[in-house]
Amino acid sequence: MIRGKIIATGSYVPENVITNLDLEKIVETSDDWITERTGIKERRIVNGSQAASDLACEAATLALKRAHLKARDIDLIVVGTISGDMPFPSTACAVQNRLGAKNAAAFDVNAACSGFVYGLHIVNNLIRGGAHNRVLLIGAEVLSKFTDWEDRTTCILFGDGAGAVIIEPTKERRGILSTNIHSDGNFGDLIMLPGGGSRNPCSRDSIIKRLHFIKMKGNETFKVAVRTLEEIAVRTLEENNLTAEDLDLLIPHQANIRIIQATAKRLNLPPEKVFVNIAKYGNTSAASIPIALDEAVTSGRVKDGDNILLEAFGGGLTWASALLRW
Ligand code: UT7
Repeated sequence: MIRGKIIATGSYVPENVITNLDLEKIVETSDDWITERTGIKERRIVNGSQAASDLACEAATLALKRAHLKARDIDLIVVGTISGDMPFPSTACAVQNRLGAKNAAAFDVNAACSGFVYGLHIVNNLIRGGAHNRVLLIGAEVLSKFTDWEDRTTCILFGDGAGAVIIEPTKERRGILSTNIHSDGNFGDLIMLPGGGSRNPCSRDSIIKRLHFIKMKGNETFKVAVRTLEEIAVRTLEENNLTAEDLDLLIPHQANIRIIQATAKRLNLPPEKVFVNIAKYGNTSAASIPIALDEAVTSGRVKDGDNILLEAFGGGLTWASALLRW
């Protein structure tokens, strides 16, 4: 049986660091509150004109270099993003152009923070079906440009960054063993960016109402996130006839340390089996898992043959998991 296998990773975060102490000067909050409620200490924020494709290209270039490939070797580029360069054309097409990936088709996936794991699901199935052979999958976000810096309930959470992987077919019993994706549009109002689309196009009124910024019902989102992530983690292991003890590393979406700890507790995983970097980057949405995966790989936390569970949750609502054997 053919399946997809990640052959290289790369990531990029902007240099500019915004700490909790910096945020104390902007909104009524405190380092203690943010640390205790979220686990975040600092986040990276782009400077000036940098857009999602700029970050994506940095991460992709590193992944290509590590795979010893040229951009023209890629036949598909998929970018998970909700903060793309512009509504259209896609950020994936901007990346294709900049990299010179002349032989690649390119499109974006909008599944909010689940975008990268949704992308893995799509890419793995395209590879299994024989449609593509060498795919560049990226999660890239510049959420800072859609953050309401007057809203203390959201501006403390988000950061910018990008992560990329290159996926090829393999006949080995390793690679992407299984993927699951889910949605429930009934909860669409829990996290949204209401302005700028055909429902609320840009107008004087939409600007006055601050509709072009992320809105989130944090506490309700938190509860649904804990429930769905626990469920999907348990189900993914069961479907693959694995127990939590067989798992070498959980790489969860980095939204809130308390959500991550709840899943770890449900699976009875010790801290050394859970990858956490939220303190450094905050919630980078679709970029959070590929950045974490890249850090886990380059720091030696991932070893040959390891079973790795990725799980994500985000606006839509969407949630998703992927089980990898490295
Ligand atoms: O990646 C997409 C998925 N997103 C998520 O998974 C986010 C999920 N939600 C969360 O992470 C948490 O709900 C938050 C971190 C956003 C908020 O934490 P919480 O423990 O749910 O707090 P809360 O919203 O229930 O607010 C508790 C209190 C409120 O004050 P009162 O009403 O009790 O007086 C808030 O006004 O904390 C207040 N508060 C703050 N205080 C200081 C809210 N934000 C802040 C703040 N600093 N930044």
